[in-house]
Amino acid sequence: MKILVTGGCGFVGSAVVRLAVARGHAVVNLDALTYAGCPANVASVADSPLYRFEQADIRDRAALDRILAAHAPDAVLHLAAESHVDRSIDGPGVFVETNVTGTFNLLEAARGYWAGRGRPEAFRFLHVSTDEVFGTLPHGASRRFTETSPYDPRSPYAASKAASDHLVGAWFETYGLPCLLTNCTNNYGPYHFPEKLIPVIILNAIAGKDLPVYGDGTNVRDWLYVEDHADALLRVLEAGRPGRRYNIGGETERSNLDLVRALCAVLDDMRPLARGSHADRIVFVPDRPGHDARYAIDPARIRDELGWRPAVGFEDGLRRTVGWYLENEGWWRALTARGGVGRRRGLGR
Ligand SMILES: NC(=O)c1ccc[n+]([C@@H]2O[C@H](COP(=O)([O-])OP(=O)(O)OC[C@H]3O[C@@H](n4cnc5c(N)ncnc54)[C@H](O)[C@@H]3O)[C@@H](O)[C@H]2O)c1
Repeated sequence: MKILVTGGCGFVGSAVVRLAVARGHAVVNLDALTYAGCPANVASVADSPLYRFEQADIRDRAALDRILAAHAPDAVLHLAAESHVDRSIDGPGVFVETNVTGTFNLLEAARGYWAGRGRPEAFRFLHVSTDEVFGTLPHGASRRFTETSPYDPRSPYAASKAASDHLVGAWFETYGLPCLLTNCTNNYGPYHFPEKLIPVIILNAIAGKDLPVYGDGTNVRDWLYVEDHADALLRVLEAGRPGRRYNIGGETERSNLDLVRALCAVLDDMRPLARGSHADRIVFVPDRPGHDARYAIDPARIRDELGWRPAVGFEDGLRRTVGWYLENEGWWRALTARGGVGRRRGLGR
């Protein structure tokens, strides 16, 4: 299959690009290379005859038309987005422009391309979204988000993703474009941009700095190793039913404090301190406004209908992640030098 991947120089997109090429798919990576885009994430496949790169912005409709016509893909796998909740609190405008208007442009460009080729049944448009569109769950409850959970986004990031999800649903119902939609829990793993929680903790620990935890650390997230997410997306692309949505999750709920403590235990083993534990440096910092209490995904549909299951357990995934950051200092040093990275954001004032 020839897949046009948008956002393929980001964290999740690059895992998709690397896996798709490894499985023999041709990949065209369309990425604007914003502050979050990093060509080094796909360096391992850059010389493959299966790989092409197009620097383009999904807000630029003419560029999308040109790239679709030039490469004639069988499918679009759409991951390009502004993705950092704290940044969305400080500057929501670009989240609406990229996540909503950009997705609208891509849907329209794909619809024109698909119609121009006689509406092939096998064409696919897979839109990658987040569990954050469902809002927040109460602490301690057993309820999890399913594909029929109502939308209740509470941050500008989640609202922009929710809006784009609705556009995708409408383009399927109204125009018959063979769209699929996935909503996934928090990812972690190699190439995670240094401003997100897990890399912040690892890199601060390496530097001997405090390890910041928002609020009282009780917010619960459901974690999935990024390569398992990439595997799920290719599975949905190959076997999912157009018009259907699939929730993707690792069934690994951890409070932020428990997550940071687990990371400290791995760091104590892999990068021990002369004295004491990395956990001694945990500090509580002012919370993010509107910080959702708990996310949890019920992945029964993708498991039962498509036979997908995560392959990497949480402890194993954390060890792989810490080991990767320890071995790839050149990668993260270059990114932490980018303007504004590492500054506390999203305090809402
Ligand atoms: N990271 C997670 O835990 C997670 C979980 C569920 C869903 N998702 C979704 O997966 C997708 C990718 O997330 P990520 O964490 O890899 O994000 P990321 O910020 O690491 O990467 C985003 C990529 O998109 C590119 N991009 C941004 N704006 C663009 C534009 N206007 N035109 C073209 N390219 C543009 C960036 O250059 C970057 O390479 C997002 O849609 C996100 O909502 C992420």
